Amino acid sequence: MYTPPSGKSTCLSVLLAAMLLAALVLPNVGCRSGSSAEALVVDIGKRNPEQLMRFYLGAIDGVGGDSLLTTDGRRVAVRGDRIEALTGYRADTNSDGRLDWDETVALVAVTYRAGERYPATRDELEAQTDYRNDDVSFTVDLQGTMTVATRRIFVPMSALRAAVASVDPANPRVMYPVSTTIVGEHWLDNALAETTVMTKRQDGFWDYYVYNASGQLADSTSTEPRPLQSPTQCAGCHFGSRTFEPEKSFPAPARPGPDGPRQFVSDVPRVSPDVVAFFDEHRRRSDTVLGIYATLFVGQLQEMAAAGNISDSDRRILATLFGEGE
Ligand code: HEC
Repeated sequence: MYTPPSGKSTCLSVLLAAMLLAALVLPNVGCRSGSSAEALVVDIGKRNPEQLMRFYLGAIDGVGGDSLLTTDGRRVAVRGDRIEALTGYRADTNSDGRLDWDETVALVAVTYRAGERYPATRDELEAQTDYRNDDVSFTVDLQGTMTVATRRIFVPMSALRAAVASVDPANPRVMYPVSTTIVGEHWLDNALAETTVMTKRQDGFWDYYVYNASGQLADSTSTEPRPLQSPTQCAGCHFGSRTFEPEKSFPAPARPGPDGPRQFVSDVPRVSPDVVAFFDEHRRRSDTVLGIYATLFVGQLQEMAAAGNISDSDRRILATLFGEGE
């Protein structure tokens, strides 16, 4: 006689055993609700995944991503559950246990929100920092690689002086104080097309943000040759090792690039090649700052010293860098 029940029960017990095994072998399967640890392996196809993830996650936890990142020195993983707890956003959108580049861009778009930490308009930024005041900022005008617009870059004089004064002559890294804000205005046909900004965070990374032509915070730049998404595309050049003109050839003039001239268009001090080599500022980019403001500033101090027109404190800065004779 045909007895289906026993067959059925065998089938069920096999199924139960399989489920039990799956639960034992794949502990993560049951943990996707976010209550337990969820380490997402970072798989973004970039050269410096840990630095990039610390930069992005530091914008969430304020401590360089320390609470959201784990690494065994080889592989970097991020805590998807903690990110979700802090931001309400689930980073692993395709639930494969990894964080790929598209998921990272989406995560950053939702969580970076530099706008909530910084002024909502360029006018407010100006009111807070007074960066257009000649007494406040060290200013350089140039045509470079980021845009075909002419850039006017404003570096707070007090921060630049502090950075130069703290340079170790044996290892001349130029490091700016926390909270330094550097502004780059992009000018086309006598109109301000956009403004790019970097503000140094507590954790040592800089936040990147952009104001559009009407002075509102924007997701990206818009000028030729290509719009740059903030902050994901800012990190590309600022964290990379590629060198750019006109900084690369300075003090020699640079040849024009595919998108036009690359040159300093304001008067820059005559800086001796020795000083340029001493800082090697653009290649060293110790603080992910790509301009050569310390080099130019010291060139200016040396010109003032030669003209007998330098303050005692600035003379001491030169003496510390290059010895008493300066
Ligand atoms: C194509 C490479 C590239 C990209 C992408 C890029 N930058 Fe820059 N950036 C530079 C270079 C080179 C300088 C140095 C000054 C110059 O030559 O324009 C610079 C300078 C700056 C400065 C002045 C401080 C410094 O480092 O010298 C700010 C502010 C700035 N960039 C903001 C941004 C923001 C915001 C983004 C993203 C929207 C961005 N950058 C993307 C190459 C880049």
